[in-house]
Amino acid sequence: MNTKVEASLNKQINAEEHASRLYFAMGVWCDKNGFSGSAKYLYAHAEEERMHMIKLVHYVSERDGNVIIDSLPKPQNNWDDILAVFTEVLTHEKSVTGMINSMFEVCMQEKDYLTSNFLQWYIQEQVEEESGAREILDMITLAGNSQGGLFHFDKEMAAKAALALANPVVK
Ligand code: FEO
Repeated sequence: MNTKVEASLNKQINAEEHASRLYFAMGVWCDKNGFSGSAKYLYAHAEEERMHMIKLVHYVSERDGNVIIDSLPKPQNNWDDILAVFTEVLTHEKSVTGMINSMFEVCMQEKDYLTSNFLQWYIQEQVEEESGAREILDMITLAGNSQGGLFHFDKEMAAKAALALANPVVK
């Protein structure tokens, strides 16, 4: 496997695992702060990020590359409120989109068309990841500071979590 492509895929393997732990930490925060539906959603999202990592690991192995499971930065563990949690989800997803675009550019420069084809799945997935985060932020904004609104929001998040668990993105 091309060494530059391999290095960029390994960087992404690490980033997906970090995203998984970050969303898990957010889920823990939500559980502790009365948002049990949002916690379920974030735990499911953490699992999804782990599957994104595993899909990359399998691809590198299939192409006879070397997978490196590297050390991870400590994720943030505390947020001011639920709006801050999901604002960070969107910020994080935007940075992941940037990383995936960079991987794609490396593939183009190195003429690794097989990997660029493989990455199409991740590019499409990012469209959904960013729009999903925006939709949740809109729901929180609509709820405002109303206890009833936030209660309803969290129930919606529990429904989203159930849907995500029933329809895993990576099978
Ligand atoms: Fe693996 Fe949320 O991107």
